Amino acid sequence: MTTSQSTNTKTNEHPSGDERYKTLDRTMKLFNYEKDALLEVLNSAQETFGYLTEDLLIYISKHLSVPMSQVYGVATFYHMFSFEPLGENNCIICLGTACHVKGADRIVEALSGEFKVGAGETTPDGVFSLTTARCLGSCGLAPVVVLNGEVRGKETPEGATRRVQEVVEASWSERQEAAEAG
Ligand code: FES
Repeated sequence: MTTSQSTNTKTNEHPSGDERYKTLDRTMKLFNYEKDALLEVLNSAQETFGYLTEDLLIYISKHLSVPMSQVYGVATFYHMFSFEPLGENNCIICLGTACHVKGADRIVEALSGEFKVGAGETTPDGVFSLTTARCLGSCGLAPVVVLNGEVRGKETPEGATRRVQEVVEASWSERQEAAEAG
């Protein structure tokens, strides 16, 4: 690491005092503040904060010395990055060509109708987000759905609805138990 980089680390601590920025700092340090680590650093930010904010993009741009336009360009290019807080449960439906041909649209319609949420939206209670993506890289399994990080291939509208229902109901139960416990 260069002298200026180590100075950066000390003087550019995020003023909010938010501990999560320290996790992001560690990732940037791990990659020696290399510009080429932008994708990994954005990933770390998304995992740590749940979604990307403008504040985070500015922080990353400053620390990696990458122009804000480039940071924003990369963050908006990849489907895995989100600019809004996701719900407790997130279902990603691949709408790439192979999945589209195998009926992925019908899965989106089924979930959208059942949970009253549009693609790219989160239910008002924050329990469920319906997300779509371009190719997820498992075309042989089309149509592909990822629910809470678990990949399922050859999914059907009925199967996806049932699985989402289970996790959503589990979240509601947890909330109710927490409320009853005071
Ligand atoms: S098109 Fe869906 S995984 Fe490739």
